[in-house]
Formats: sequence, structure tokens, C-alpha cells
Amino acid sequence: MVRTSAVLLGLALLAAPAFAEPGPAEGAALYDVRCKMCHSGGIPTAPTIDKLGALENDKIVDVLTNPTGMMASAVGGLSDEDKRNIAVFLTKKPMAAKDGLPAVAAE
Ligand code: HEC
Repeated sequence: MVRTSAVLLGLALLAAPAFAEPGPAEGAALYDVRCKMCHSGGIPTAPTIDKLGALENDKIVDVLTNPTGMMASAVGGLSDEDKRNIAVFLTKKPMAAKDGLPAVAAE
């Protein structure tokens, strides 16, 4: 587990330059370090990235805001902007500005 954390930290540091770029690029970097290990085959019951991409942005943000089951222990510490960036990365659909949060353009 310690070793896994060290690897994850390394990945987070490698991905760091992407965080300077807001929007789906940042969402992609977050997906790689926070979601991929379960959603790209690590956990058989976790829907694949293609299935996540077929959801609506609001649904993904809602799941990340009120996580249940395995997700509950997995997605802490994401800001509202992080969640929206991840959603747009997955769906490739833009989100309008809402509740003081900036619009997120799909790339
Ligand atoms: C520890 C493993 C794990 C991690 C990490 C994880 N998930 Fe999940 N996720 C699951 C599992 C398993 C499910 C299926 C529902 C359940 O069993 O809780 C799920 C369900 C979901 C759903 C609901 C899909 C639907 O059709 O209702 C979304 C959206 C989702 N995850 C997005 C994410 C995102 C985005 C991240 C990263 C920020 C993430 N998950 C990180 C395991 C994980």
C-alpha cells in the first residue's frame, strides 16, 4: 500500500503540468490518478470509461458529490471545478457556467 501511494504520488507529480491548463485536460489528469485504477479494468464492477462517457455531465458531478459504495472512499478532496472538468473530459460535452463556477468547454 505504501508503495502504491508512492507510485500514485509520482504520477500526480508527473501530471502536474496539466493542472495549469483548466478544463478537460485537467479532468484527464485527475482521471488518470483518481479514477482509472478502478474504471479501466481494475474493478470489474466499475463501469468502463466508455460507459462513463455516455452519462450526462450532471449525473457524473452528482455521483462525485454524493458517492456511494466503492466510490465513497475513492473520490474525496475533489473541488466542484475538478468534478466538472472530469465530467467534460469523460462526456466530451461542454458545461455552462453555474452557481459561480466557470463554463467548461469541451476540447
Ligand atoms: C475504488 C475504485 C473506484 C475509484 C477510485 C473510482 N470509482 Fe467510480 N465507481 C466504482 C464502482 C465499483 C462503481 C459502480 C457502482 C458501485 O459499485 O459503487 C462506480 C461508479 C461510478 C459512476 C456511476 C456510474 C453509473 O452509471 O451510475 C461514476 C459516474 C463514476 N464511478 C465515476 C468515477 C470518477 C469520475 C472517479 C474518479 C474521480 C471514480 N469513479 C473513481 C469504483 C471506483
